[in-house]
Amino acid sequence: MSYYRDTFIEIDLDAVFQNVVNLKRHFYDGLEVIAVVKADSYGHGAVMVARTLREAGVRLFAVATIDEAIELRENGIHEPILVFGSVDVRDLPVVAEYDLTITAYSFHWLKNALSHPQGKPVSLQIKIDTGMNRLGIAEKTQFIDAVRLIRESPHFHLSGVYSHLATAEEEDETYYRMQLDRFETMIRGIDTNGLLIHLANSAGSLKETPAGVNAVRLGLFLNGIAPTAAIKDGLPFELKPSLSLYTKIVQVKTVPPHSKVSYNGTYETTAETTIGTMPIGYADGYDRRLKNGRVWLNGGYAPVVGRVCMDYAMVVFDESVEPGTRVELIGPHIPLEAYCGWIGTNNYHATCAFTDRLPRVYKRHGEIVAVVNRRPQIRL
Ligand SMILES: Cc1ncc(COP(=O)(O)O)c(C=O)c1O
Repeated sequence: MSYYRDTFIEIDLDAVFQNVVNLKRHFYDGLEVIAVVKADSYGHGAVMVARTLREAGVRLFAVATIDEAIELRENGIHEPILVFGSVDVRDLPVVAEYDLTITAYSFHWLKNALSHPQGKPVSLQIKIDTGMNRLGIAEKTQFIDAVRLIRESPHFHLSGVYSHLATAEEEDETYYRMQLDRFETMIRGIDTNGLLIHLANSAGSLKETPAGVNAVRLGLFLNGIAPTAAIKDGLPFELKPSLSLYTKIVQVKTVPPHSKVSYNGTYETTAETTIGTMPIGYADGYDRRLKNGRVWLNGGYAPVVGRVCMDYAMVVFDESVEPGTRVELIGPHIPLEAYCGWIGTNNYHATCAFTDRLPRVYKRHGEIVAVVNRRPQIRL
């Protein structure tokens, strides 16, 4: 063990590998999979996940920021990496040095970037705004001019065009159809030969492939998570969640009736009660808004009671439990979706929120193959 406190996230890389195999089989009709591993692969750990994705045949990656891309490069990911975010043109030398693909997200930005030639051509993908109203070029004439300007420049290379869906996970497809229509109209205005053309995220990838599209950008699916319960129930392929969260009880105490537990005494015992203290709290990303949650230990469920503190949270037991007992907070018995329901957020947010206080323990072929602990390692 290379960490001091026995509270950690476990990532099942076999699940990641199998998810990709299943996804690639599903998209066998020539669609490229762009693996979205931004935000440290949504808290799962970008480097270890990306290595596994590559082993499973993924050849294209995407992240949000330059530093996320550099981390991948410096850990042996040599495949194309698309940076979705807004890059400062002053950072173009770094983009060129690390051979990254960046996003031309506005006409203004593009004109500025074109006046900063680097020693070698920089790969660009144009982002079209079809209704997300975040980043992207929304005007068709500006888009066509942007394509022309990049193609005329000896210093830049156009490698793709993409847009992002705002409502792909919703049942009502009205807004999706509008975005699709705008995307197709824009794309029809250019020669797309040799370009990666992509629109869909995980939820969008389940819809019929739009004309001209040749790639999907998948983030959540890689880690075996579906955007909503309805999507999870209707998936046309199998996905296995890769993330589990564990701790160990550090103290057990029996308290009399009418004892208040944790800050502000929001939970009060009605009878003599056995309480267990878990060394995990909201500073780890175990959310303070948790209500009516539970954990799994000794083959049964135990409710989490009182406020989640910064470093601790408490559970109650029916019968006595020894300190040192292992607790599953998310995993085979406690689905991520259940945890998200107790804290009132979605699957994306919940895993991104886990902080670097939690070491990531990676398993492959059932064995621990790596432990990523960004805090000081234990001295042996
Ligand atoms: C631009 C872009 N594309 C693709 C994705 C991947 O989305 P998902 O995790 O739903 O597959 C994201 C994630 O937020 C994104 O911002």
